[in-house]
Amino acid sequence: MSDVLVLETGQTPPTGTQTPPREPKWTDTFAYIANPDQFCRHNLKQYGPIFKTSVFGGTTVFVGSARAVQMALNGDLRYTEIGLPQTTMTMFGEYSLFQRPDLHRQRKSALRVGLAGQAVQGYIPKINHVIVQRLQAWPTQGEIALFPAVEQICFDVLVPLLLGVELSDAYFQGLPIMSKTELKQVYKTFFDGFYGLLPWRSPLTTFGRGLQARAALIEFMQAVIHRRKSEANLDPTSDFLSMMLVSQEADPEGVFSNTLIENQCLLQLWASHYEISGLVSSWMYQLGHHPEHFADLRAEQAPIKDTASSTITGEQLKMVPFLEATIQETLRTLPPSSTANRRLTQSVVLDSILYEKGWTLIAEPRIAHILPEHFSHPDSYQPHRFMEDISPRDKYAYIPFGGGVHACLGAQLAMVVAKIFASHLLQNFEWHVQSPAPFVQFPLKKIKDNYPIWISQFNTL
Ligand code: HEM
Repeated sequence: MSDVLVLETGQTPPTGTQTPPREPKWTDTFAYIANPDQFCRHNLKQYGPIFKTSVFGGTTVFVGSARAVQMALNGDLRYTEIGLPQTTMTMFGEYSLFQRPDLHRQRKSALRVGLAGQAVQGYIPKINHVIVQRLQAWPTQGEIALFPAVEQICFDVLVPLLLGVELSDAYFQGLPIMSKTELKQVYKTFFDGFYGLLPWRSPLTTFGRGLQARAALIEFMQAVIHRRKSEANLDPTSDFLSMMLVSQEADPEGVFSNTLIENQCLLQLWASHYEISGLVSSWMYQLGHHPEHFADLRAEQAPIKDTASSTITGEQLKMVPFLEATIQETLRTLPPSSTANRRLTQSVVLDSILYEKGWTLIAEPRIAHILPEHFSHPDSYQPHRFMEDISPRDKYAYIPFGGGVHACLGAQLAMVVAKIFASHLLQNFEWHVQSPAPFVQFPLKKIKDNYPIWISQFNTL
């Protein structure tokens, strides 16, 4: 972005430059974690889309306007670094895409081979198979706890694709984690560890337990990799793990060391599982509240519903633009992901606003997605807005998958899983929601576990 002025140390900002409004308050962290939606809306109303806070300590500037978001998300190696708490960075470990800006581009393009494009197309039959099989276990009529029901299926889809692990009892024999249930528990502890704020490496803290879970998962992945390497004919297209192992075989000195492979399997599962589960359950919830869209969605499904096969192909997924619009509108109204944090390593000036070295920037979809200049009637769920052929919206106005240098590597996979899941639901189930759902707001936005919905199956899967 050429109009970002990066100041040399000691350089005076141009005359007329001002810092963002609002004085940081010591209560900001609590207020934000307790209810990020309310925190963002309240301050947006009072101060506009850029304001100072003390969320997570120090001075933290929330940015929601497209230009400021673009500035925040593209400063790597020039004026920003990742600004996450030390506990989170320790949980990531040194092989994440966040730790080594110098290796970021090289690692990201190597990983993309197994997470986007042809690879995702190749995963489609497996994704279909697991979703259909697991939906068969849903009651034909009755109540289900929405988030856990969706989350269980997403786990069964993603673990084989990302860790290369089969989820049968027989598969776990001889491995250090002995069942799918145990794997799920350890994963949950690992995930929570990223958000433990107390930095003590003790089993008494969320962070300490997270580190232990991380070590257990690494040991597990080492055993999985050992087993996988002893198998003949590795197929690089079968899953993300195989892609990395085949690349390693072809170029032993390349990006894919054993340690990077073990870590990346875990990191991709960390990045995807609760996010996709949050998205699919929030989509069901939004549709339950807006049943007026079901007729159009089902009409769109009719030509792709094949009674002989339950597989929805990649080509067919391109034929459901309205479904895609409802998913995009769900991501706008209920973005699962928490914020993207960057720390300024240099002071910068953009649009006469000074952002000082040492401050943290939070690019916040909760602000960006409700700005009326980009989204008319931002509080209503209007999927058609994503169908309209309007002048292209600034891509930094809509950031459910972040943007810029660290834009989500799994956006395409996430959309494919969500569209296949949603298509099977539309083709086979009706559902109703009765009351507004309670949401967990942090670290990810998701419907609380105890929220039930009523479903009824009208087709045999
Ligand atoms: C609905 C699902 C998802 C949402 C909402 C989501 C959201 C995001 C966001 C907001 C970022 C940017 C973070 C930042 O800039 O600090 C991000 C980055 C990332 N996501 Fe996703 N994500 C999703 C699914 C996935 C999946 C399925 C994968 C992989 C299997 C994945 C892998 C990644 C990776 C590796 C990055 C870091 C990229 C980099 O540093 O260059 N995500 N995601």
